[in-house]
Amino acid sequence: MRIEILLCDDIVFYSRMRTFLASKEIYKETGQIFWNDFGKKWFVCINNKGKTIGVCAYVKTKKNIIFCSDYVLPEYRNRGIYDKLFEVRMKECPDLPIKAVATKQSLGTFLRHGFVSRKVKGKFTVVERGKNG
Ligand SMILES: CC(C)(COP(=O)(O)OP(=O)(O)OC[C@H]1O[C@@H](n2cnc3c(N)ncnc32)[C@H](O)[C@@H]1OP(=O)(O)O)[C@@H](O)C(=O)NCCC(=O)NCCS
Repeated sequence: MRIEILLCDDIVFYSRMRTFLASKEIYKETGQIFWNDFGKKWFVCINNKGKTIGVCAYVKTKKNIIFCSDYVLPEYRNRGIYDKLFEVRMKECPDLPIKAVATKQSLGTFLRHGFVSRKVKGKFTVVERGKNG
């Protein structure tokens, strides 16, 4: 298993991401469509057979980092793949405050990585991590 860091204009981006972008399954489960915006940095977990099994990303704004597009294929969950992606993303992102909207499935990982809950909005929790934790 390995993690690649990709931008949407990298040559392998669409081959790595093909089952994740505009995916009906992801839309059904999360209500979200994963966009390939310029400047958005992707972290892509690829298994030993070359299959992309999980992704996450961040977007940088003037003042913040926004974590987004976090997804691990259902059959590969609960074995620490998201945690590995999360660790690499934390190491690679600029030293700015980070914001995200966590789901019930991701909240534990955010809290373990030093985020705090700001408010609960239905099924979601707004989380933040200050500069330097
Ligand atoms: C959220 C999501 C990305 C997590 O992916 P994952 O790879 O299953 O995450 P992990 O395996 O790292 O962690 C999940 C849980 O398994 C536990 N775990 C980690 N390694 C484990 C192992 N080897 N054996 C058993 N459990 C393990 C973690 O402690 C964690 O527990 P918690 O829920 O109490 O925090 C995945 O569930 C998903 O794609 N959900 C749908 C979309 C979504 O909610 N995205 C998040 C948007 S912010």
